[in-house]
Amino acid sequence: MGDIKILEHQSLRAYNTFGVEAKAQWFTTFNSTEALHGVLSARLPIAFILGGGSNLLLTRDVPGLVAKNEIGGIQIESETDDAIVVSAGGGVVWHHFVQWCVSGGYGGIENLSLIPGTVGAAPIQNIGAYGVEIKDVFEYLEALELATGVIRTFRAADCHFGYRDSIFKNQLTGQYCIVKVAFRLTKTRHQLKTTYGAIQDTLKEMGIAHPDIAAISEAVIRIRSSKLPDPARLGNAGSFFKNPEIEETQFFALQQAFPSIVHFPTGDGRQKIPAGWLIEQCGWKGKRTGDAGCYEKQALVLVNYGDANGHEIYALAQDIMDSVDRKFGIRLTPEVNVI
Ligand code: EPU
Repeated sequence: MGDIKILEHQSLRAYNTFGVEAKAQWFTTFNSTEALHGVLSARLPIAFILGGGSNLLLTRDVPGLVAKNEIGGIQIESETDDAIVVSAGGGVVWHHFVQWCVSGGYGGIENLSLIPGTVGAAPIQNIGAYGVEIKDVFEYLEALELATGVIRTFRAADCHFGYRDSIFKNQLTGQYCIVKVAFRLTKTRHQLKTTYGAIQDTLKEMGIAHPDIAAISEAVIRIRSSKLPDPARLGNAGSFFKNPEIEETQFFALQQAFPSIVHFPTGDGRQKIPAGWLIEQCGWKGKRTGDAGCYEKQALVLVNYGDANGHEIYALAQDIMDSVDRKFGIRLTPEVNVI
């Protein structure tokens, strides 16, 4: 099984993009399924599998074993003249994978440029941005069942993908480690998604009238860099909350009271309200309590100005949830995993 090095009382500060301090009782990494089998043979209780730590808020020390997925490798599985199936190891950094695909001329995930985290974590919350979600290009994934060591293949229908949601956040929470994900991408006739106003405005600024996938990737990188804080400089985990979806009756009542309410129809008779708007309306944008704050350029992002602990950031999140609830009657739900 090779050498498995298990560390005790390991600080996780460098392993979560909020940069909060918390200790794992045990910590290890693995870079292959064989190494993961070796980790499992230690028979320690597994707390969770760690990816990039970019969707995680640690509010306490973690009992049990935290195992970081570092399975690498990108492979072409099959291709035709028009399409290609590419797979990547669960530990591959998501944006490296996007860059590999964009520079190879493979289209479908350019709108997902610069999303933090790893390939293996991406399906768990069906990552999405600027009109694309990974379910749109998903082919299959392989996941190792932690209780048995057996590898199972999941097709799209098996994953129950929803808005920032999948079976891996629900019935199968904590049961599998995603070791490989395969995507079906285009080689020709790319289906460019440029409907988001921010993308159109940025392409215009870049002087590009007929974008290719590389131009869209560049535009998305510019937008994200201008609105979202770089975790290397300011601890954060991207959007802290999900955008709530409400029934139309509730929406029309709210629109009477708040005529400027921002909303997007979901297509199934409901309305999605940007949580960032709700939070800003409650006066939180740019506010700070100690080292925990609500980001000045995007109210949906909570930040750690230095030495905030997870408990303090979560307390701020609770205060925000309470005040949005009081003003709008909408209960926000966190998008990050709070532990
Ligand atoms: N808004 C405000 N104030 C703010 C922020 C937003 O009023 O401080 C309003 C504006 O009207 C704006 C609208 O909200 O037009 C939407 O904002 P934005 O385009 O920044 O997108 P978002 O809904 O806040 C979602 C995703 C992001 C993704 C962007 C772009 C969720 C929870 N978040 O944010 O994903 O990058 O759309 O598609 O769905 C993430 O999940 O971590 C993430 C960053």
